[in-house]
Amino acid sequence: MEHFRIRGGLPLSGTIHISGAKNAALPTCVASLLTDDPVSIDRVPHLRDVRTILSTISSLGKQVTRRGHTVEIVSGGRIDYEAQAQFVQQMRASFLVLGPLVARLGRAVVPLPGGCRIGARPVDLHLRGLRALGAEVKEEGSRVMVTAKRLRGARISLPTPSVGATEQIMMSAALASGETAVQNASWEPEVEDLAQLLVKMGSEIEHRDGTLFIQGRSDLHGARHAVIPDRMEAGTYLLAGAITRGAISVTGVIPEHLRSLLSLLEETGGDIDRTEDSVSITMNRRPRPLSVKTAPYPGFPTDLQSPLVVLLATADGMSTVEERIFENRFTYARDLQRMGAIIEVSGCVATITGVQELHPVQASAPDIRAGAALVLAALAADGESTISNLTQIDRGYEAMEEKLSSVGAQIERIG
Ligand code: UD1
Repeated sequence: MEHFRIRGGLPLSGTIHISGAKNAALPTCVASLLTDDPVSIDRVPHLRDVRTILSTISSLGKQVTRRGHTVEIVSGGRIDYEAQAQFVQQMRASFLVLGPLVARLGRAVVPLPGGCRIGARPVDLHLRGLRALGAEVKEEGSRVMVTAKRLRGARISLPTPSVGATEQIMMSAALASGETAVQNASWEPEVEDLAQLLVKMGSEIEHRDGTLFIQGRSDLHGARHAVIPDRMEAGTYLLAGAITRGAISVTGVIPEHLRSLLSLLEETGGDIDRTEDSVSITMNRRPRPLSVKTAPYPGFPTDLQSPLVVLLATADGMSTVEERIFENRFTYARDLQRMGAIIEVSGCVATITGVQELHPVQASAPDIRAGAALVLAALAADGESTISNLTQIDRGYEAMEEKLSSVGAQIERIG
């Protein structure tokens, strides 16, 4: 089986250019279903999840062409209303095709989604949103069937600011009649990026005081859009610099998107420098411990929780990390314990007592981010580790081993 062989213990040093954001590329590609005109998306990373979404869209009838990091999606003459299970079960983001299909065609059949095993991750809020927009929603076995003559604008209040539900509602409402207002909407940078594409396609969208307003249109037109840089990839590599007591710069980023991480890294004793589009960290001491809670943007993101815990595993004292977005996101803790880390998990809180050093391990990546965290732990460990199940890491990190090798990591893909 394919795995990374990692010889750890070397401080990383150098510059890594950051790719486009996976979590922005996926919904923006789905938005192409809202029009028959061509939609071009630039800065699309080469990732397994992106391949899955593009296969989903082309299986629905679109013609998709990739040139480098640009994806062109044009009409193939028809759109199918039924998405295939093989794509949606691989990745939760494929479920986003539901709203655009019903908005365009009046009906859609989409299997219930798969994706990272990081908690229950229901789709009730997606469906509640579509019902509020006037759709009839039926769940039949493992499929959802939705019909609507024409979606109509509505007031929707989300009990939690779900990223996926906000994106689902925003795309559906863009082709509804009248205004939709979504209270307590998610406004992560990736959601805002999708809104920017929709505006280029002719939508009118505003976000004021936590409420998202979408003025529905009878049709939308084509557009060209470059997705934002990946703040999760940038954060992972900055943490790799700190974990290996090295000096890493990430370029092509929006530093504001990394603000919560950077202030935590400063608290741990890292030296941070920023320019308009780059951030550097130098860490030449044991980090100070932290008390952290994950939260919606601009709070500390759940997707960087696991790599941050790896940093805290060698901190000079006791840290606590509370996971408040997903209920099953400490799946990697057992592997870190096998590496010598002292971590106790109780419900959604991990208590981490820092140790001087981590030891090598043979482990399997449980999901995208926990997989990346195990790679970072292996880079800090005093010997040779193997991390398998690279399918998970390849879903979310473009050319991880090349980027890490370029800053001095001894990491090889085997098999
Ligand atoms: C997206 C991101 C993921 C990130 C997460 C939180 C993509 C492709 N993935 O996932 O990387 O970790 O946001 O920032 O963009 N919930 C419900 N009912 C629903 C939908 C969600 O209860 O219908 C709950 C979830 O179980 C979770 C919380 O809401 O506890 C947040 O989930 P959500 O924001 O929807 O995450 P995703 O869109 O799946």
